[in-house]
Amino acid sequence: MAVVRRGPAPPATYAARVVDTSPPRSTTVGPADREDFPRIAELTVSVYRDEGFASPRYLAQLADVAGRAGRSELLVARDGGTVVGSVALVLGGDFGEVTASPDEAAFRMLVVDPAARGRGIGELLVTTCLARARAAGRRRMVLSTDPRMTAAHRLYDRLGFTRLPERDWSPLPGVDLLVYARDL
Ligand SMILES: CC(C)(COP(=O)(O)OP(=O)(O)OC[C@H]1O[C@@H](n2cnc3c(N)ncnc32)[C@H](O)[C@@H]1OP(=O)(O)O)[C@@H](O)C(=O)NCCC(=O)NCCS
Repeated sequence: MAVVRRGPAPPATYAARVVDTSPPRSTTVGPADREDFPRIAELTVSVYRDEGFASPRYLAQLADVAGRAGRSELLVARDGGTVVGSVALVLGGDFGEVTASPDEAAFRMLVVDPAARGRGIGELLVTTCLARARAAGRRRMVLSTDPRMTAAHRLYDRLGFTRLPERDWSPLPGVDLLVYARDL
């Protein structure tokens, strides 16, 4: 069975069984172009639908990439020419949903293609959001997340986010979201 590794290099005899968890050197994160919108919609909707994270109403919002591009900074991870991940960074306005002051930024709709996971692309998307929000003068990053998004929660813990339970909220009956925050 493959072994996922983040620590120092193992003895050479293990090399054939080790999976490299660093982002491919060709992976970059930057602003989305309008031509990326259909791929972002397809990727976000398919992951949230197939992994059971979204109601039909929320799937319609996930498909509206042009709508969120007007209310956030839409970032994509590209591996070669292919979009393999996306996130919406919110520096102002109400699209962040859980921001409570102009000092706060948020990100939403984080997604990485299942075929590209476990290589740090999600981490690169989140750390890019942190850096851009810090550069824009924001003091805190906040986000809300479904309790079942456990891979994302491990990522947030690893990057220094902590829970902000007083901001937990419920957009719909039966949908209870957890809020995480990190100072910038
Ligand atoms: C959360 C998500 C963006 C992380 O993407 P990623 O590129 O795999 O992220 P990273 O590689 O930086 O690390 C994520 C963790 O999941 C593990 N992981 C996830 N999928 C994996 C896979 N297929 N193979 C190996 N490891 C995997 C990573 O090893 C890592 O574990 P660790 O934090 O315990 O070390 C991705 O799992 C995803 O799109 N999830 C569905 C949408 C979602 O939950 N979004 C969050 C919204 S709040």
